[in-house]
Amino acid sequence: CRVRHYKFNVVMKNTTRLCSSKSIVTVNGKFPGPTIYAREGDNVLIKVVNHVKYNVSIHWHGIRQLRTGWADGPAYITQCPIQPGQNYVYNFTITGQRGTLFWHAHILWLRATVHGAIVILPKLGVPYPFPKPNHEAVVILAEWWKSDTEAVINEAIKSGLAPNVSDAHTINGHPGPVSNCPAQGGYKLNVEQGKTYMLRVINAALNEELFFKIAGHKMTVVEVDATYIKPFQTDTIVIAPGQTTNVIVNANKNSGKYMVVASPFMDAPIAVDNVTAIATLHYSGTLSNNPSTTLTSTNTPPKNATPIANNFLDALRSLNSKKYPAKVPIKIDHSLLFTVGLGINPCPSCKQGNGSRVVASINNVTFVMPTIALLQAHFSGIKGVFTADFPGNPPVVYNYTSTTPPANMGTTSGTKVYKLSYNDTVQLVLQDTGIIAPENHPIHLHGFNFYQVGKGLGNYNPKVDPKNFNLVDPVERNTVGVPSGGWVAIRFRADNPGVWFMHCHLEIHTTWGLKMAFLVENGKGPNESLLPPPKDLPKC
Ligand code: C2O
Repeated sequence: CRVRHYKFNVVMKNTTRLCSSKSIVTVNGKFPGPTIYAREGDNVLIKVVNHVKYNVSIHWHGIRQLRTGWADGPAYITQCPIQPGQNYVYNFTITGQRGTLFWHAHILWLRATVHGAIVILPKLGVPYPFPKPNHEAVVILAEWWKSDTEAVINEAIKSGLAPNVSDAHTINGHPGPVSNCPAQGGYKLNVEQGKTYMLRVINAALNEELFFKIAGHKMTVVEVDATYIKPFQTDTIVIAPGQTTNVIVNANKNSGKYMVVASPFMDAPIAVDNVTAIATLHYSGTLSNNPSTTLTSTNTPPKNATPIANNFLDALRSLNSKKYPAKVPIKIDHSLLFTVGLGINPCPSCKQGNGSRVVASINNVTFVMPTIALLQAHFSGIKGVFTADFPGNPPVVYNYTSTTPPANMGTTSGTKVYKLSYNDTVQLVLQDTGIIAPENHPIHLHGFNFYQVGKGLGNYNPKVDPKNFNLVDPVERNTVGVPSGGWVAIRFRADNPGVWFMHCHLEIHTTWGLKMAFLVENGKGPNESLLPPPKDLPKC
């Protein structure tokens, strides 16, 4: 194992996309930002220096951060933000993980442009559990707004309504030739006949679940969220914000150019950015300026293609081999049901929205961001920052997926955490609600991977549904899509002391309050407690 040093200068950079320019927040002037390479077991030190006028914090999405919650990154949860002119060294060791993850800003909407890949290779000499691909490439999917994203969100907060949708999707930073700027080039992956390519696909978009497809080529899926799965072939993958998916593509054509697309998946009746991002798989020897070599195109799935999404998602199974066994908790200490969804609250000061605003909640609690980081309050015993009374079940039992809620929903707001003892096992059912409209919610848990043991439509039935749970080889992830008008059940072991954020990875839902935190107490053993904070931890 070795130590890897990185320096992240957070700087403004003038960037042109969709035929217009704007100044964006970047790391080292790059969009997307630099890739972090490490091996399982390495110690990674990233010095982040804030040269912009915004507060900044960076999250290493999917890194377990065993006992090092101080390096997790969500602003006001595990650290105070890095203020303009300040810096902070994120210091963590990669334990028991290998694969593709990503990093992103974790404050306001900065992650729109402040994100990049994390590639964790297996320990030296340890092979992949599938044939080694000849080449590898990172493929980051994201969104682009022509206007300033901070302005977009501030306007939404002021009005109480939904924000403007983005103007385009991007593949490795480029929308490609799309109708609102047809002449621009897109990302090009050069391939050679007979070689295999592992694409590390990352969805870094703020608010859009995406389909990803390559004309004329099948993909073999080998890993999601940095956990190995049983390989299978597919035409299309679906990937939610916060998720990563490794696929192997066999370049089995003689020559030519093949379209690579990222298009939206949304099975709820809401406005989405419908612009398909376009990249090219380009065989060597194919002249790019030869007009006779036309781009082989592919049809994109319609945005409400739920069966295509389900076919893909239902095929995901843990590899569960001798070397990589699935460790699904069987005996459960906490059996929880959390409703996730949107609601309407009065808002006399709102300029639009008829005196009401959209809010979001978990178990009818709209999370209020604290002004001191929860982890600091927990570690130093600072009182009055949070309460440990987050409900383990909905305060009101009703038909969750109907659009007519009861008159009194018992809604509250507050900075509430749910407390777990070290090594407790948790079964958590995430139930979508239809109060405004059913919608898919990619829920991300910091500090842990979990197993997705069950999934269904309608209301979760605790008497019937557990009989169909997969406790043998369920997929292991850090972000799971709660189906629109349905539920998922996950299980995890609380073997990581600290305060761990859980939230919808659609950034607008997080902004509206669809977030909470688990507090995991120290264990009694020698390596079972949160380490002390680093000296340079930012102050609020
Ligand atoms: Cu990738 Cu708390 O997020």
